[in-house]
Amino acid sequence: MGFNYIDDILSCNGITVPDLADEFDTPLYLYDAESIEQRANAFRDAFNDVDSIQYALKANSNLSILKLIRSKGLGADVVSAGELALAIKAGFSPEEITFTGVGKRNDELAFAIEKQIGLIIAESKSEVALINDIAGADSRKPTVALRINPNIDAKTHKNISTGLHHNKFGMEENDLRELIGKRSEFKNIDLAGIHIHIGSQVSDSAPYIETAEYAAGLATELNRSETIIRIINLGGGLGVNYDKMLPGVDEYNHLTPEQLAKNILSIIEPTGCSLYFEPGRWIVAPSAILITRVSYIKTIGGNKFVITDAGMTDFMRPSLYQATHPIVPIINSDSPKEQVNIVGPICESTDSFAEDYLLPQVSEGALLAIMGVGAYGYSMSSNYNLHPRPAEVMIVNGKSRLIRKRETFDQMFEGMPDN
Ligand code: LLP
Repeated sequence: MGFNYIDDILSCNGITVPDLADEFDTPLYLYDAESIEQRANAFRDAFNDVDSIQYALKANSNLSILKLIRSKGLGADVVSAGELALAIKAGFSPEEITFTGVGKRNDELAFAIEKQIGLIIAESKSEVALINDIAGADSRKPTVALRINPNIDAKTHKNISTGLHHNKFGMEENDLRELIGKRSEFKNIDLAGIHIHIGSQVSDSAPYIETAEYAAGLATELNRSETIIRIINLGGGLGVNYDKMLPGVDEYNHLTPEQLAKNILSIIEPTGCSLYFEPGRWIVAPSAILITRVSYIKTIGGNKFVITDAGMTDFMRPSLYQATHPIVPIINSDSPKEQVNIVGPICESTDSFAEDYLLPQVSEGALLAIMGVGAYGYSMSSNYNLHPRPAEVMIVNGKSRLIRKRETFDQMFEGMPDN
């Protein structure tokens, strides 16, 4: 990670953070382009040329970041017409785009079919019929993969687990078999793949091996008399070790893409299918910090609160998943650590970044950095309480580039007639 202390001042590839806070104000997302490039390359290089590595836009969909990832030879995994439109704008070629999602609308499917994207994932029997109808009306024949809910435990936080039968995602194996059995009825689609995504922030290879074995077994069986399944898509989900994302540390993988590929390819290759993978978090999570200024410090009944100008509206993961992200002062000091609650300005008790956290003593006005916010940070931000969304800056070749302006009141209020 390009974040480290130089003379006790937090820097990103040689650029000092306090200067950026002065120039662009806070809260501020600060990205290191090199980190994204290295990790996109690492994922691409770990797999074979015939495999398709498609970046999941939902993790971070800033246009400059998308262009960077595209330039490294990855495709795109999108979950809405909005993400699809942006992926195309970023230059991803339609055949390298996969459209996933549990509740795609007619118009979103029509848009994807018209753009002739490479793969559409269907998550129910009704969706297969709908894709077939829309494609017929447009004289197209999209390639479709069926998403199965395999009832496999990803052993992750319950809010980001997707492969169990009480999760809404995918279809039962019985439904998949029924659809494959009557595939000749769907003349306007090429039913060619199976897709499984068991969850996110997966830290161990065991759930992936279980999923790959299940998918390979099913594909082999379905292909026994004729080749039907040509694509096995194993979703995304590779996790990172957030607790290790501290300045100067650059080892925070639970599992590398090489280790993942080593475990999975030997299972998938004998099927003759091409492997698709859709990483989001692993590629972008360590690339960014959220810079925030301490507005107030106070104590209530012995509990010390450090109140920052960033809140859950800027970075939601701690509030939503009880996620822990290291928080460090921008000016490193050897002042004694004290136990504090680091909280935002939003009118919600869940607006908290860290409870009982050991932070070196800081004063009001100090700058802090929340580490590892590149994935599901800005992309999950909101305007609740009408705080404008923060700016995003990226360090590219030792220079800062504003890659998204801070939102304005006009942008927040536009679209509401005032008569
Ligand atoms: N493919 C599918 C079908 C997915 O649903 C997801 C994530 C991915 C790929 C990418 O997963 P990744 O490699 O990023 O783990 N907001 C949550 C994560 C939600 C993930 C949703 N699906 C968080 O901040 O932890």
